[in-house]
Amino acid sequence: MFSITQTLSLALLAARSAIAANFPFESIVLKDSDVAQNKDLAFGKLPINSTFAKCKSFPGDASWPSKDRWAAFNTSISGALIKGIPPAASCYDGPYYDAKECADTRAGQTKSLWAQEDPIIPYGQWQLGNPCPVPSFNTTPPIALCNITSFPAYAVNATSVKQVQAAINFARNYNIRLTIKNTGHDFLGRNTGGGALQLWVHELKAYEYVPSFKVGKYSGKAARVGVAIQQYDLHNNMAKYNITTLAPGSTTVGAFGGFMQGGGFSTIVTGKYGLMSDQVLGLEVVTADGNFVHADPYENEDLFWAIRGGGPGNFGIVTSAVIKAYDPLYISVVDLTFQTKPVDAFTPNNLTAIQVSDELFWKGIPIYFSKLPKWQDAGGVGWNYINTDAPRGNVSRKYQFQGQVNLPGLTAAEAKALVEPFFTELRAAGLDYSTPTPKFFNTYPEQNYRPQGIGESVSNGRFASRLVPRENWVDPTSAKFNKTIAAIRSFVDDGGYTFHSVDYAPTEALAGWPGKDSAVSPHLRAASAHFTGFDTASYGPDASPAQQIASHARLNSFANKWRDATPGSGAYMNEADVDEPNNKESFFGDNYGRLYDIKKTVDPWGVFYAVTMVSSDEWYVEGTQGLTTQQGRLCRKA
Ligand SMILES: Cc1cc2nc3c(=O)[nH]c(=O)nc-3n(C[C@H](O)[C@H](O)[C@H](O)COP(=O)(O)OP(=O)(O)OC[C@H]3O[C@@H](n4cnc5c(N)ncnc54)[C@H](O)[C@@H]3O)c2cc1C
Ligand SMILES: *[C@@H]1O[C@H](CO)[C@@H](O)[C@H](O)[C@H]1NC(C)=O
Ligand SMILES: *[C@@H]1O[C@H](CO)[C@@H](O)[C@H](O)[C@H]1NC(C)=O
Ligand SMILES: *[C@@H]1O[C@H](CO)[C@@H](O)[C@H](O)[C@H]1NC(C)=O
Ligand SMILES: *[C@@H]1O[C@H](CO)[C@@H](O)[C@H](O)[C@H]1NC(C)=O
Ligand SMILES: *[C@@H]1O[C@H](CO)[C@@H](O)[C@H](O)[C@H]1NC(C)=O
Ligand SMILES: *[C@@H]1O[C@H](CO)[C@@H](O)[C@H](O)[C@H]1NC(C)=O
Ligand SMILES: *[C@@H]1O[C@H](CO)[C@@H](O)[C@H](O)[C@H]1NC(C)=O
Ligand SMILES: *[C@@H]1O[C@H](CO)[C@@H](O)[C@H](O)[C@H]1NC(C)=O
Repeated sequence: MFSITQTLSLALLAARSAIAANFPFESIVLKDSDVAQNKDLAFGKLPINSTFAKCKSFPGDASWPSKDRWAAFNTSISGALIKGIPPAASCYDGPYYDAKECADTRAGQTKSLWAQEDPIIPYGQWQLGNPCPVPSFNTTPPIALCNITSFPAYAVNATSVKQVQAAINFARNYNIRLTIKNTGHDFLGRNTGGGALQLWVHELKAYEYVPSFKVGKYSGKAARVGVAIQQYDLHNNMAKYNITTLAPGSTTVGAFGGFMQGGGFSTIVTGKYGLMSDQVLGLEVVTADGNFVHADPYENEDLFWAIRGGGPGNFGIVTSAVIKAYDPLYISVVDLTFQTKPVDAFTPNNLTAIQVSDELFWKGIPIYFSKLPKWQDAGGVGWNYINTDAPRGNVSRKYQFQGQVNLPGLTAAEAKALVEPFFTELRAAGLDYSTPTPKFFNTYPEQNYRPQGIGESVSNGRFASRLVPRENWVDPTSAKFNKTIAAIRSFVDDGGYTFHSVDYAPTEALAGWPGKDSAVSPHLRAASAHFTGFDTASYGPDASPAQQIASHARLNSFANKWRDATPGSGAYMNEADVDEPNNKESFFGDNYGRLYDIKKTVDPWGVFYAVTMVSSDEWYVEGTQGLTTQQGRLCRKA
């Protein structure tokens, strides 16, 4: 039995958590009085009585809400409802034609800073089957050639938790597919769906530095973050408050949507602090029943465990988080670039580029990978691109290895001492390459400061992913090591693809408390490199489904060599192929079972669906033509 004081403090705790909110936008919540005015917004109740319809309701279906119900919904959410018209519709002859908007779309379509400001488009248009391509210059095709039905039907421009709750309840009560867009960066199409109600969380930006924060075993600096915060917001705030926090590598990636919920690595500090999901001390979440809850190691523990690394958009909608913050941190960076032919060929860093023969080039590559365990033990993260400009057999082709190692917390002298053996071995192998002077930065934002966010280009491409465990690198004379290097070489040499790896090791030791007890995939925890390979073949409207299938099969045949070299490992769910084979094991490993149980408990309705995520294999999308896309009606398999 509880004593009176225990009961009282528990009651106080419960009361406090019931109003737990990091920001003002979280104190505007959906009330029973709102539901009384619009019954469509009723909260979800358990147990569920009825059996489910086979498919989600699609525009045009008899079950689709009437215009009046949409209008009432719009009123309930203060007019934040937006019709799902893709910006490229402005370039077609019809009701949406708008020369100025079309010009803006042409200029903006490849820029993340533009694409993130649209409520409904994903970055990769293949994810919806390229339904409304920007037409070529000086042509104005009829609007019938822009398939608006393939996009989300409506978007909610959420600026309060109340609107998030209302959207979830409306979608659940009408059996409408719900999708969530933050920035739109997702590579798999987890953020979009035809005929969906799209919850756009991009406006949920807020930041508060907390100099001293205590929860469980953590006591130290922290920050409260609205879920829409992007990399450049984090960099600005690091500079402003003289702190370090983990952040994504590219400027406009959302830090707490897909990035954090799938793990989230930093190319700069993951070797010191682990993943973004390891930084999280508490979460505010709207669940599938429409309730707004707090989750941390002591409250809604399962939800807290699942959201941190168990996959985005599938367990609830995060509105804000509290994350760890650290003292400012100096960083040394060493350039490692070398190439085969004249310096100007690949626009490299001229200071570090050297010229070597093809055979020498491939002697240098294993030397780099053999150094990863030592560099990672010192807190470092490496990254590299390996490419060639022509296929095997072309005697005048060029190769390039462009790479860097980031060493947070090391002085330039310490960094130089650490990397010296790499250069010594390169020279011994015949690569006449002098050790460069490391670049030194006083703080993380100084290393990569982007006040407004310079943005990235938006890609319609696809790629492959593989996590390589540390055991592949520890013995450079082993068959395992050699097989891994041979798989890289074949990818570039025979495949002609650009190889990329970010070489981080987000161990449980780095994760600390409470990060080590989270749904981060065991494959990601054991990784010591993440291989990705870019496919420059077209997945756009000019490529037929059969051509896309063939391109993908070719890419996959080379990814299979990575898989063969890393039996028992997996892929990184956030930067993976949506058609990754055996994705349950590959993305989640042994965590799948527990995640599945949590999913069925917190979302028995199937309100949330995200392709390749937990329980998604119980659904299919109508009208896909070979490769997995999201434009059609979403249906249950059984
Ligand atoms: C240029 C570029 C650079 C990248 N760099 C890195 C990197 O350095 N490290 C790394 O780990 N990954 C990196 N990624 C991959 C990145 O982690 C994923 O693309 C991630 O999905 C982006 O999340 P987002 O919220 O910005 O995007 P979105 O596409 O908006 O969302 C991604 C997923 O999260 C869900 N989601 C969004 N917001 C919420 C929310 N509030 N609640 C619940 N679910 C939500 C969406 O439904 C979707 O499933 C990069 C990607 C790109 C395009
Ligand atoms: C479930 O069914 C019972 C009996 O038919 C009914 O009284 C109850 O309101 C239903 N609950 C829900 C959530 O629909
Ligand atoms: C929702 O209401 C606002 C404000 O009245 C209006 O501007 C907007 O067009 C409406 N949205 C839809 C989809 O009708
Ligand atoms: C979304 O809402 C914000 C805040 O009300 C507003 O500034 C912005 O223009 C809206 N965006 C769109 C695309 O309607
Ligand atoms: C930033 O913080 C560090 C250590 O926490 C301190 O030494 C330094 O003086 C601070 N710099 C500024 C500009 O406040
Ligand atoms: C490399 O050096 C050459 C010769 O000095 C110069 O013309 C070129 O612009 C440089 N390239 C880059 C990418 O800096
Ligand atoms: C060989 O590669 C070079 C680039 O290094 C390219 O310019 C040339 O066209 C290629 N030749 C053939 C026959 O493909
Ligand atoms: C791996 O390659 C190295 C270097 O070529 C070689 O010395 C070693 O014998 C190879 N190991 C095995 C097991 O084949
Ligand atoms: C438009 O998209 C919808 C949904 O994906 C699909 O059912 C329909 O066949 C498409 N229409 C055309 C003309 O392609």
